Amino acid sequence: LGAGLADRHGRVATDLRVSLTDRCNLRCTYCMPAEGLDWLPSPTLLTDDEVVRLIGVAVTLLGVTEVRFTGGEPLLRRGLPGIVRAVAALEPRPSTMLTTNGIGLARLAGPLAEAGLDRVNISLDTVDPARFQALTRRDRHADVIAGLAAAAQAGLVPVKMNAVLLRGVNDDEAVPLLRFALEHGYELRFIEQMPLDAGHTWRREEMVTGAEILERLREAFDLRPDPGVRGGAPAETWLVEGHSGIGGRPAKVGVIASVSRPFCGACDRTRLTADGAVRSCLFSQEETDLRGAMRAGATDGELADLWRKAMWAKPAGHGIDDPKFLQPARPMSAIGG
Ligand code: GTP
Ligand code: 5AD
Ligand code: SF4
Repeated sequence: LGAGLADRHGRVATDLRVSLTDRCNLRCTYCMPAEGLDWLPSPTLLTDDEVVRLIGVAVTLLGVTEVRFTGGEPLLRRGLPGIVRAVAALEPRPSTMLTTNGIGLARLAGPLAEAGLDRVNISLDTVDPARFQALTRRDRHADVIAGLAAAAQAGLVPVKMNAVLLRGVNDDEAVPLLRFALEHGYELRFIEQMPLDAGHTWRREEMVTGAEILERLREAFDLRPDPGVRGGAPAETWLVEGHSGIGGRPAKVGVIASVSRPFCGACDRTRLTADGAVRSCLFSQEETDLRGAMRAGATDGELADLWRKAMWAKPAGHGIDDPKFLQPARPMSAIGG
């Protein structure tokens, strides 16, 4: 094991995704049931100081350069601004990002930017308020729209939008969603649905593929492959001809085709759950508990060693196409997007 978070397949993780809570204020039908899930018990949740300590280990000892806060819904975490402030003060300063459903961002975008947050990605699957209510089981469309605007206003740019299309639900919205994003200067990405829902209802045949989405977009827009470097980014991006984004840069649209065009070979991610477990992959069957070791008095160096060991065992890929594929026990909402 070297200094950083290397695995046996030659990848090195530098992008840490931290789930700050498994709770959410929406109930998206493709994610969790109306009644919610059995939330993690409070004593198992990392405190703000513990989260910051583990992120500090990753940044100062393990070479992590990007920290993304996820959930559940990370804006539900009261201590978020303080956590962001502490992480932005680490040396060398990592970039700090947030993936959120946008509810509450109208109020929090300013304070978060001031605390040192660099950017946000906001999930929005439909431009239609009634459909939003059906899909999320909550009437909060206007809050998300306000959150997007507040993020741009606070300089959390580029503001990215994430959308999952579901067959027979919102698969007619590829074009309207892109129109909305272009109009406001947000960078939209379409995400293929992955088998990570709490209800285990995912069916490959039902999934709206990246190829299908591009085909629909091309009926209304002229797309050109983005000549920029993709690196380990999940999104493959296209320039939208005839449209300019913020600051006159060409407008972009992305497709995150995790299932039909996996990008696992270039994966640079490591994950920390709200209860202090390291996950080497979204789809790992194994986790490494750091909370117990930390609470039993482990040093930063010992925690770093446990983290390295966890990442060394990272699977080569998600294995969705393997006939023996098993969904991980934790659903997406408890791992973080
Ligand atoms: P930026 O483009 O740098 O802003 O980050 P990102 O696209 O990684 O961030 P975001 O949290 O918005 O992720 C968008 C979606 O990409 C997630 O909801 C997942 O569906 C998917 N995704 C992110 N990371 C992974 C990953 O490691 N593996 C797979 N298969 N999908 C991922
Ligand atoms: N597959 C792909 N994306 C998902 N998301 C939630 N569940 C899934 C899934 N099973 C998305 C949300 C949000 C982001 C955090 O992850 O729609 O945009
Ligand atoms: Fe990385 Fe696992 Fe996602 Fe593949 S499925 S990109 S290996 S986290």
